[in-house]
Amino acid sequence: MKVTIIGAGNVGAHCASLLAQKDIVREIILLDIKKNFSEGKSLDISQMLSLVESNTKIFGITNDYSKSKNSEIIIITCGIPRKPGMSRDDLININAKIIYSVTKKSIFFSPNAKLIIVSNPLDIMSYVSYLASEIDSSRVFGMAGILDSARYRFFLSKKLNISFHDIQSLLLGSHGDTMVPLYRYTSISGIPIKEFLSEKDNDIIIEKTKKGGEEIVNLLGTSAWMAPSASVVKMVECILKNSKRIFSCSVFLKGEYGLENLYLGVPVILGKYGVEKIIELKLNKEEMSLLKKSGNYVKNTINKLKNFF
Ligand code: LAC
Repeated sequence: MKVTIIGAGNVGAHCASLLAQKDIVREIILLDIKKNFSEGKSLDISQMLSLVESNTKIFGITNDYSKSKNSEIIIITCGIPRKPGMSRDDLININAKIIYSVTKKSIFFSPNAKLIIVSNPLDIMSYVSYLASEIDSSRVFGMAGILDSARYRFFLSKKLNISFHDIQSLLLGSHGDTMVPLYRYTSISGIPIKEFLSEKDNDIIIEKTKKGGEEIVNLLGTSAWMAPSASVVKMVECILKNSKRIFSCSVFLKGEYGLENLYLGVPVILGKYGVEKIIELKLNKEEMSLLKKSGNYVKNTINKLKNFF
């Protein structure tokens, strides 16, 4: 198994480190445009691996995509991250160009790969990568729902003083302010959340979750990378082990939920072929209207990119 990570910044390098420590892939290629950058990070990770008893080999490469040849999974983390005061959408033009070009170069050398997009604005960059790749949309998907759900479970566990391991949740929609909470589908060890928390109090936790990324940007001056990387590694593990777990991922919709020709977060079954099934929940009127709002928001942002294609 070979996995390539494009971009050796905070998310890319941390993804490489977490994935390598799991000892589930033979080879990781960490590729970056900046000379010596991924080489240095890879060397550091390699030296750590002797301490954690992993056999994964990791190679840092400057901009030579031929070294990523025949990767099973390509993780795209490159582009610029947010700075305080910026929204994810402020990154759109610069990141779209980068994602388009790295997708073309990556898929040329690994035509059978699955592509996991991490760069922001996530739903738009997943769409750009899909168009650039010219492969089936089941093999191009974005990471967001797992991260949003992890943040929600963390805030909820703090509020209720209950382990986050026992909280099951699904968050749909775009990665950002139009994220769609599903109060009805949240449970704690199978017990509906309403037994623990009113919808009104849950809304406060959802607001915190929506601003979860921004809170970290304001504290650190750049985007989060620990939880985002762990979320990506969860997806990689699920694909490589063909676990067929249900995660909310940003995927291409072709009429599901009444939406088409855009990427948006919905629950899917993830396995060795990538997105093996999109799960269509029977949303109530209010949930559906929030999802539509989120979809419209993504569509409007895609329209801003029109001159790009
Ligand atoms: C965040 C970035 C990765 O939510 O979008 O932290």
